[in-house]
Formats: sequence, structure tokens, C-alpha cells
Amino acid sequence: MAEKGTLLVTGGAGYIGSHTVRHLLEMGEKIVVLDNLVFGHPEALPSDRVSLVEGDMSDAALLDRLFAEHKPEAVLHFAAFAYVGESVTDPLKYYRNNLAAPLVLLETMQRHGCRRFIFSSTCATYGNPVKVPMNEEHPQAPVNPYGASKWMLERVLKDCDHAWGLKAVFLRYFNASGCDPSGEIGEDHDPETHLIPRILMAATGEIPEISIFGTDYPTPDGTCIRDYIHVCDLAAAHAKALDYLRQGGDTTPVNLGTGRGFSVKEILETAAAVTGRQIPISYGPRREGDPPELICDPAKAKTVLGWEAQFKDPRSHIEHAWRWMTGTRQGRYPRS
Ligand code: UFG
Repeated sequence: MAEKGTLLVTGGAGYIGSHTVRHLLEMGEKIVVLDNLVFGHPEALPSDRVSLVEGDMSDAALLDRLFAEHKPEAVLHFAAFAYVGESVTDPLKYYRNNLAAPLVLLETMQRHGCRRFIFSSTCATYGNPVKVPMNEEHPQAPVNPYGASKWMLERVLKDCDHAWGLKAVFLRYFNASGCDPSGEIGEDHDPETHLIPRILMAATGEIPEISIFGTDYPTPDGTCIRDYIHVCDLAAAHAKALDYLRQGGDTTPVNLGTGRGFSVKEILETAAAVTGRQIPISYGPRREGDPPELICDPAKAKTVLGWEAQFKDPRSHIEHAWRWMTGTRQGRYPRS
């Protein structure tokens, strides 16, 4: 096993980034986080154990200093915008932040000889499923600029591998959910659009009701089916992807999900049971661009990374998220 160096984590103060940092610290890794704090929360990081550099990955001078000082062995790249709807109305914002900005990061990596990259990609790079469960061979035909920006960066990474030997793992997440079982860190997006946190916000009264987007899908109960992957399982997969690259693994995509799908109604029923609250519901029209069913085939993650989801039942995701929502921070980091 090669010697462990420092890891650079972009977007490490965000939801998935901060959970991964926590996991990597438990594994004894040394970490520097780069985050512009547009969506990240410094409180999500243990300040005594992580260096947080506040800045942007498109700032070449800052990156040069950072690479000269910390000489990172690998980059875990989380920093991105992730509102699918906004990406449709403001595509350039997404191509600038999710595609153009990381080019500066990659140029810096090339200059400094850093050749390992773990990329937060998404099942949105597949677009509408032609077959479920979806494996990595599924055609990639993204249907929105968010998915397209991630798909294009995958393409860039492949070309960098060809040209200068960058080795990258594209981790294509399905629906990230839950939080650390301690309830100490969690999901705090503003605005929050994701199903589970919004259901829990309706349970606490923070929002008046949860609207179900469409009940006429071709699924058993008419609502959309998703593969919910616990954020701590995602975090563990990043550590496995790092081992894989350290052992000389080649550039490759890997889906991250459980292989099981749950409908919006099933998630709602589970949340009602976990919280013991009456959750006000309304029934709205379909949300544009939502495929009826997204389910991951996680076989490759097991064979290539030796990774498998531990929290397969979304009940545990909801329990952990509820702990975060009702704990000391009430589901919110301080606002600056
Ligand atoms: N939903 C509702 N009501 C809500 C919110 C969501 O009914 O208030 C439904 C959606 O229609 C969807 C399901 O709940 O059927 C899950 O929706 P989320 O917004 O939680 O997640 P998405 O499946 O839309 O999005 C996730 C990631 C994206 C990624 C996408 C890939 O958040 O980053 O998966 O399809 F692009």
C-alpha cells in the first residue's frame, strides 16, 4: 500500500462532503478542505482536525498555493451546484461552476503531478432510464444541464487520463439521504427541495405540508420510485474508491445505490411511523423531468470497490435525519 498523503476535499463543508470528511478522519486520513461556503457550513467540520481553506476552485493562484503547501495525494471533488430545476433555467451557472471551474482545479493537479481524482457524479448523467436497475453501461443521455455538466466533466476526466495519466473514479450517486447516526451533522440546504427533509419539515411544521409530485406514474402506487442511498454509505464508498486508486486502479465509473426502490408514498408512510406525527400532505402535478423509477444496479461497486450499502432500509435514513432535525441544531447550521 502506498504511503498516505494529504487529501484535498473540495466542497467538504457541504452535505455529502462533510459526512465523507468525518468518515475519512475516522480512517486516519489527513484532510484539507476547500470550500467557498456558498452552500457549505464550516460547523459541519471539526475545526481542530481539518484545515478549511475558504475559497473558490476557479482561483488558480489560491490553488497553486494550496497544492504547494499541502501537496495533496488525491482530490475528492464534491463542490458543485445541484438544483436540477435551476440548472434548466440558468444553465450557464451550472456549466461555469460544475464544468469550467473544475478545469482550473485539474490544470493545477496536472502542474503539481497529482493524479488521483474521486468525482461526485450522479445517476442524472443517464437521463431517462431505458432499463432498471441501471448499471454503468446504461446509455448516458442527460436530460438537464445539471446532469449534462456532470457527464461532461466525466468526459474531461477520461481525456486527462489519456493525456497525462489522471486516474479517476466517477461515483454516480442515486438519491443521497439520511445523516450521521449521531445527529451531529446533517442535511441543511437552502432552499431544501429533497423529499425526505421536506417531509420532515412538514412533520415539524416548518413548512405547512408536503406536496406529492404526481400520483399517476406507471408504478404500483402511482408515485415515483427512487433508490435512497444513505450519506454514510456514500462516505464509505469514497474511502473504498481511494483505496482502489491507491492500489493502481484505472479510471472507471461506479454507481452508488442500494439496488432497492421505494415510492414517495412508501417514504411518507415510513416517515409518519418514525416521527409519530401527522404529516400534512397535498397532491400536486408531476414535477417536470422526474422519471417514474430510478434504481441502481450496485454490482460493480461490490466487485470493483468491495463496497455495499449498509443502510438498505430508508427507515434508518429517516430515523437519522429526524434525529438531526429534532436535535440541538434543529436541522440547521448557523447562518452567517
Ligand atoms: N418529491 C415530491 N415532493 C417533494 C420533493 C420531491 O413528491 O416535495 C418527489 C420527486 O418528485 C421525486 C422524489 O420525491 O419523485 C425524490 O425527489 P428528490 O428531489 O428528493 O430527488 P430527485 O430524485 O429529484 O433528485 C436526486 C438528486 C439530484 C439528482 C437526481 C437524479 O437530488 O441531484 O436525484 O435523478 F440529479
